[in-house]
Amino acid sequence: MTSKHSKDFIFVQMTDVQFGMFAALSGADKQRIEAAALRRLIIRPSPKITGFVKETELYTRAVSEVNRLRPKFVAMCGDMIQDSNDLAQLEELRRITDQLHKDIPIKWVAGNHDIGNRLTEESLRQYRDRFGADDYFFDLHGSRFIVLNSNIAFNPSEVPYEWQRQLDFLDSTLKEATQLGVTHIVLFTHHPLFVDDPDEEDSHIVVPKDRRKIMLDMLQSANASAIFSGHWHRNNYAIDGNIQMVTSSAVGCPLGNDPSGYRVVSVTRDSIKHKYIAIDEAPI
Ligand SMILES: [Fe+2]
Repeated sequence: MTSKHSKDFIFVQMTDVQFGMFAALSGADKQRIEAAALRRLIIRPSPKITGFVKETELYTRAVSEVNRLRPKFVAMCGDMIQDSNDLAQLEELRRITDQLHKDIPIKWVAGNHDIGNRLTEESLRQYRDRFGADDYFFDLHGSRFIVLNSNIAFNPSEVPYEWQRQLDFLDSTLKEATQLGVTHIVLFTHHPLFVDDPDEEDSHIVVPKDRRKIMLDMLQSANASAIFSGHWHRNNYAIDGNIQMVTSSAVGCPLGNDPSGYRVVSVTRDSIKHKYIAIDEAPI
């Protein structure tokens, strides 16, 4: 590839469409809502429902809006479905994804729900069978985009060799990008690396500090521009040196004050700017 910034362009970041989540959280009692609030998550009281009608509506609208925008690609930053054993959720995800214009590729990123919340050899194999590679990169108009399965960095205890493999992959991909002289290096993960400060303590949201620091050091050395993630179901912006750490709210069920939506990212030679767009509630 040529390493020159050849063209300004936009891409769209989506995350956590999570078919089945509205139903999973519906009918939550006061205790559950209060427990979630302690973890900085807002669960809105609602009557018990089943299925995924709301996710269908939101994702269909998002896809149709994105078709009008014609971005170069869509990065879906994980939690495509609530229950990795529910094939109806997976089928609905695929049915609506197929409505994306044929010129707009979708780049899948592994979320914790997509691997059944427990990373094992088996859950990893199932993910790869369904969605393809979980760690990969692609180059576009002189920038490099790297997708990482942050479930591995979050907790590799059952597959420690995967963590080593992931680090080797990140290291060689970044070194190659540096050698090529790419304009921007952008990372996509499900878990944010951090949400306030690169040195913050471990939590259920972020990649634990020990592994986070190794990754951030590598990204800093390569002069990476931005990391886009999801998982928290709310928007959040932080920074480490020159690296923007952007966490986006959900296409599906929000757990903060931001509406369901997606992020439009514009890439120029000098900058990566982005805007969160609420999914249009008006009739299609
Ligand atoms: Fe999620």
